Amino acid sequence: MKIKKAIIPAAGLGTRVLPASKAVPKEMLNIVDKPAIQYIVEEAAAAGIEDILIITNRGKGVIEDHFDHSYELEDKLAKNPSKKKLYEDVLHCSNIANVYFLRQKETKGLGHAIMCAKSFVGNEPFAILYGDDVIINNEYPVTKQLCDVFEATGKGVVGVKEVPRKDVPKYCSLDVTHHEDNPKVMDVHNIIEKPTDDQIMSCYSILGRVVAPPQVFDYLAEDLANTPEGEELYFTDTLTRLGKEGDLLALDFDGIRYDMGNKLGIMKANCEVALNHDEIGEDFKAYIKDLAAKL
Ligand code: UTP
Repeated sequence: MKIKKAIIPAAGLGTRVLPASKAVPKEMLNIVDKPAIQYIVEEAAAAGIEDILIITNRGKGVIEDHFDHSYELEDKLAKNPSKKKLYEDVLHCSNIANVYFLRQKETKGLGHAIMCAKSFVGNEPFAILYGDDVIINNEYPVTKQLCDVFEATGKGVVGVKEVPRKDVPKYCSLDVTHHEDNPKVMDVHNIIEKPTDDQIMSCYSILGRVVAPPQVFDYLAEDLANTPEGEELYFTDTLTRLGKEGDLLALDFDGIRYDMGNKLGIMKANCEVALNHDEIGEDFKAYIKDLAAKL
């Protein structure tokens, strides 16, 4: 079954990038000349997904403005032939896909944010793209890589990469078995969120992309009902239930992932994208070489 819908949870508080994220949502922090969330919406659209729901929160209305028309600006740019490219870039923001918005009224974690999308998704499989994970692969978008595995197998798919062992406790650890015919695809048996060192089962962690069957909402509803007041439900615990039923695969995706939820990730994204940028790439490379020589 083809994946036609995606959700982008973007309602988190972004405490790791404060104070930058105090008034500007972290999803709107830019990578060179586009906000992070535009890269993510473009990735979903490049996977053939037309309907995208962004889960926002109070104070994140600027995300809605970014994907809407800006008539006065468009009108001014349209009348100036020398600004044609800028006009097209601005117009493009409102035409990437059908982008919808919903507010998560309380910041109760990723699992709760995904649950807010139940009516939008209905009874069909869907993609989840975390709003602070930008993953670049212009030839074969990572969401498309996951959708292709889902369409071939009918099983849920999580996008994974091996991370340095010292970093695994910041993410999650997966117990996996590689498929013989394609070692990039794995059966997932168990997932432990934020493991202690002795709980690490492998260095594969889920990095920002999931394709899930609709029954995940039934599991989420049960898990949320069983989560004590004041505690956060880990979405990985819900995914583990799919894994224990043999319905979850992991894909070691091809793509470069930038964590826009932390300061170093933001700097790496900006430097690497700038180095390959049509307009400023060459000048930026020269600047970096100069700078490196002085270090
Ligand atoms: P994170 O845990 O990375 O985001 O969630 P956060 O809560 O903003 O992070 P810090 O620790 O405070 O810096 C992954 C994704 O899930 C979204 C976030 O916006 C991010 O894109 N999220 C998280 C929600 O939509 N709602 C939540 O309640 C929590």
